Amino acid sequence: MKIAVPKETKLKENRVALSPDVVKDLVKKGFAVAIEKGAGANSYFNDDLYTAAGATIVNDRKEVFASADVLMSVNAPSAADIANMKKEAILLAFMYAQTHPELVEACSKAGISAFSVDAIPRISRAQKMDALSSQANLAGYKSVIMAADALGKIFPLMMTAAGTIKPSKVVIMGAGVAGLQAIATAKRLGAIVEVSDIRPETKEQVQSLGGKFIEVKGDASIKIEGGYVKGVSDEFLKMQQELIAKHAAEADIIITTALIPGRKAPVLISEAMVKSMRNGSVIVDMAVEQGGNVVGSKMNETVVTANGVKILGESNLPSLLPLNASELYAKNISTFLLHLATPEAFKWEMEEEITKGSLIVHKGTPVHPSVVKQPVTA
Ligand SMILES: NC(=O)c1ccc[n+]([C@@H]2O[C@H](COP(=O)([O-])OP(=O)(O)OC[C@H]3O[C@@H](n4cnc5c(N)ncnc54)[C@H](O)[C@@H]3O)[C@@H](O)[C@H]2O)c1
Repeated sequence: MKIAVPKETKLKENRVALSPDVVKDLVKKGFAVAIEKGAGANSYFNDDLYTAAGATIVNDRKEVFASADVLMSVNAPSAADIANMKKEAILLAFMYAQTHPELVEACSKAGISAFSVDAIPRISRAQKMDALSSQANLAGYKSVIMAADALGKIFPLMMTAAGTIKPSKVVIMGAGVAGLQAIATAKRLGAIVEVSDIRPETKEQVQSLGGKFIEVKGDASIKIEGGYVKGVSDEFLKMQQELIAKHAAEADIIITTALIPGRKAPVLISEAMVKSMRNGSVIVDMAVEQGGNVVGSKMNETVVTANGVKILGESNLPSLLPLNASELYAKNISTFLLHLATPEAFKWEMEEEITKGSLIVHKGTPVHPSVVKQPVTA
């Protein structure tokens, strides 16, 4: 089978789906690999490296799509690109299909199959394929580095002849994969770290990384399924905000990472909380692309409020570490491919958990429960 990798076209995207090392491995296993000219340039992988790894460099984007048996990308391609794919070809990418019905429609129209990387079940067997985690981990690290850079203070306690500098205080909202890496990074830099999450099991994880857990008493409105928060009531969010307010007012940095898959991100930092923060404090809203955890954050912009708080709204943090992000993504997606296929053909094990969980469109028909319209019952 022929794998093809296009150049990513999303604004500010520096990643690429396959690294030269992973290409080498796939070629050795018997796949043919075509890479669009310059696809790896922003990840510091020149075309020469791909050629040396056994790939063919293709100049014509249309040909990249038309010739692929398997198209592998980071972000889902546009509907126009998908229309150029051959019938029964297969797409592997981040589709976020539930919130992108136009992509599902484009795949159906083209008669292709599509597996979405973000829908791979979070089970131990699938850990090597878990691109959500590999990218969130890097994003968590980068969020702290960006915040540290924007803050006019150092993180650690420092005793000098001219006086003692108090350590900075970092508040992290959400202790998932990104949040836990943000805690570890902020601790390594010497900050005092306080953390809030609504999944009770995170308390121990936070403490083991040296963070202080801000305990919000849960209530029956919090629904958790498969390790994910599925929903939470407005009353609970209000109660949580009241408790967090005191911590926010004393924070030098707040990093928010709270997400609810397939839904708008919960608002955790209100306008009043932003107003209560000191001049020069920094907020990083990692949920900005999903609607934001912070009132006043703007996607891909740094907002400076009237009281001097900087709100950073970078939407694609992993892309700012393209070398690591592409290397890890390439490992994730090639492991995913090798699980689903041999170099000759896809296995189509329709009842197998990873296949079933991640297959969105099968030979032109939408099949994933999140995108198939349920019949209305009386
Ligand atoms: N293979 C595996 O077993 C595997 C791999 C990765 C992650 N996981 C698990 O999957 C789960 C989701 O991880 P994720 O990082 O993708 O989560 P996520 O990106 O969906 O959410 C980030 C965090 O925000 C939290 N959150 C949601 N609403 C909040 C609120 N109102 N206040 C504070 N925090 C709030 C969530 O609890 C979560 O910890 C975790 O349990 C994680 O440990 C399992």
